[in-house]
This record gives sequence, C-alpha cells and structure tokens, in this order.
Amino acid sequence: MGRVHGHLRPARGQTSHSSRGLAGSNERRWFLDISDKHRFAEGMRQVLQVDLGSRSYPILMEEGCLARLGHVCREQKLSGTCLLVSDLHVDEYYGKQVEDSLRGEGFVPVRAVVPAGETSKSGEQLFHLYRDAVEAGLNRSSFVVALGGGVVGDLAGYLAASFLRGIAYVQVPTTIVSMVDSAVGGKTGINLPEGKNLVGAFWQPAVVAIDFESLASLPDREYRSGLAEVVKYGVIRDVEFFCWLEENRQAILSRDPDAQRYFIARSCEIKAEVVQEDEREGGLRAILNFGHTVGHAIEKVSRYGTFLHGEAIALGMVFAAMVSRRIGKLPDADVDRISALLRGLGLPVAVPDLSWSALRLAVAVDKKRVGETPQFVLADSL
Ligand code: GLY
Repeated sequence: MGRVHGHLRPARGQTSHSSRGLAGSNERRWFLDISDKHRFAEGMRQVLQVDLGSRSYPILMEEGCLARLGHVCREQKLSGTCLLVSDLHVDEYYGKQVEDSLRGEGFVPVRAVVPAGETSKSGEQLFHLYRDAVEAGLNRSSFVVALGGGVVGDLAGYLAASFLRGIAYVQVPTTIVSMVDSAVGGKTGINLPEGKNLVGAFWQPAVVAIDFESLASLPDREYRSGLAEVVKYGVIRDVEFFCWLEENRQAILSRDPDAQRYFIARSCEIKAEVVQEDEREGGLRAILNFGHTVGHAIEKVSRYGTFLHGEAIALGMVFAAMVSRRIGKLPDADVDRISALLRGLGLPVAVPDLSWSALRLAVAVDKKRVGETPQFVLADSL
C-alpha cells in the first residue's frame, strides 16, 4: 500500500527529516501542506488498499459517499438483502439516505437501530440483531452495513462475523474514532460485564467507506475524543505526524476540512500498515493498544458513562507515557509533549477521582494480560 499521495512540503523548512518508527526504519518523511486545496478536491476519491491476501479490501474516502453507498456496495459485488445497523442518533441523520441509496441500486435493505452509547456493545443488543437478521431473511450471500461509530462498527461487525458462521459486512464509520481506528483492521466484538471486548472475532469488512461530510453532525466532544487515537499514531509510529498535529492544532480543532482529510487519511494509512504486518495481533499490532490497558480499565470502572472512549485512551496514554519514563525509556520532554498535545486538543490528561484499587482490579482482567500479569504497551521515544 502506498503512502497517502499529495503535494507535500518539507517539515518546518527543513529539506528532510528522518524518523525512527517502532519498526526501526529510517526513511524520508514529509509534511502535507494543508493549504493545498487540490489534494482532496471535492468529489475526489482517495483509496487506500488494505492488503491481506484473500481478505484484502479498500478504504474509500470520498465526500458524499454515504448518499452513494448503494453504488459502493455494487462496486464490491455485494448483492441481495442487507441489515443496515445504526444507532438512534446516526439513523436519524443518515439512515434514510443510506437506505434509499441501497434500494436505488437494487439491494433490499432492512434498518436495525440500537440505542446510542457503549452499553449497546452487549450480548442483549447482539441477540436483538440476530433476531432482526432472521426476520429480514438474511442468508449467506446477504451482508451487514455498520453505519455509525465504534460501538455500531464493533457490534454489527461481530454480528456479521458470527451470523450463519460469517457473512460479509461494510464499515461506514461516521465518527473520528471509527474512521481512524475501529472500522479498519477487522476487530469486532462486544463487552461483557467483566470487561471490554472480551467476546469478539477478527473479521475483515468488504470495504470501508468514509464520508468526511458525515463528521458535520458529530458533536465537538465526540470529535475531540477521536483525536486521542490520532495522537496515538504519532506516538507509536510517526514522529513527523506527531509534529504536524502539534503545528496544526488550531486547524484540527476548528475542523478545517483539509486538515481533517489529512489526519484521517494518514491515520488510516498507519493503521493499515500495522494490520497488514500483523493481522491477528501476534506482535506488532499490539502497539495500537498504547494507552488502552488503563484506558479500558477507566471506561469499565466509570461504567462506560463518564468518559468517551478517546477520553479514557488519552488518560491511558498519559499513564503509559509516565510508566515509560519511570522505567527509564521515554525522556521527560516527550512525556510532556504527549500530555501537552492531548490537553491542547481538549482531552483530559488527569483524573482526580477514580479509585486506584478499582482500576487495578479492572486492569487485572484486561484481555491482553499474560497469565496474571497485565501488559502495557510502552514507548521509548516518540
Ligand atoms: N484498536 C486496536 C486494533 O485495532 O488493534
């Protein structure tokens, strides 16, 4: 898969800049000049291919592609009946439009709606959806469309992975978190009362369709929450992207369309690179869990009600950065930069009132633990 193409300029007037990613490669990296309005001209389609052999699929980034989803599904040679899964908020905004587009291309879409929020990633909602799928008459050549954020993507993805032993599905992410992280890479699943994502499957979608226009309906808090995962990519894989985020903080927060398109495309690209190397998290893919050990514990201890996912991950990343410093790996200056960037993007970096003993218990059942030992992804440099 190639790097995101575009008109690029050297970083901060330098002629080149080399960076050491976690994979240890030295290569020339460039910043995107976000004033280049031609790069993502309206209506232009960017395509990133996720190369996974027979499970390969494209990530399409295209303004207005929600209204053309039927065409996108047709291009992917999907056919027949589909269950269009969404949450109440997203369905209200886009459900009808996507349904009409699917119907217009000859599909038979049936809408299924779950309540908004992390608590819908449950066995109860999954079984509601199984029944909806049976009632809609889905068979093995049918497919599922996951229209929404990470909750809908994980839940509907797991529905597709498990219904009739696995049918096709399409990811249509409408939040930053889902565009840059959860819709790409095939992790699907639900939570148990005992912990997050304890039931699930690796099940790759047929296509990921990103419509930047759908971000217009995303509340500011949700938008900022998603930026935590974007910062994560800078920390774990691309220091120059991290610098770009620092330099373009205002444009990002004011939702400058060019900045948005760039950080989403670059994040997807990094995610795809990692997943291509290690689809089932035998090694490298674990770096995507930077900040997630404590982040997931915070979500659980606060009963998924206080913090949005990205907010908890921001806190978890600060914790992971501090542990990295404590064991003598990450310099003070880098810990400060991670924390300052997160704070500058409107994310929490400290929690005054969570019980440490409850967090320790939650960390102890984290699914990434080995034996009795919780695992932390740490950094030795940006
Ligand atoms: N969100 C972490 C992963 O996809 O591996």
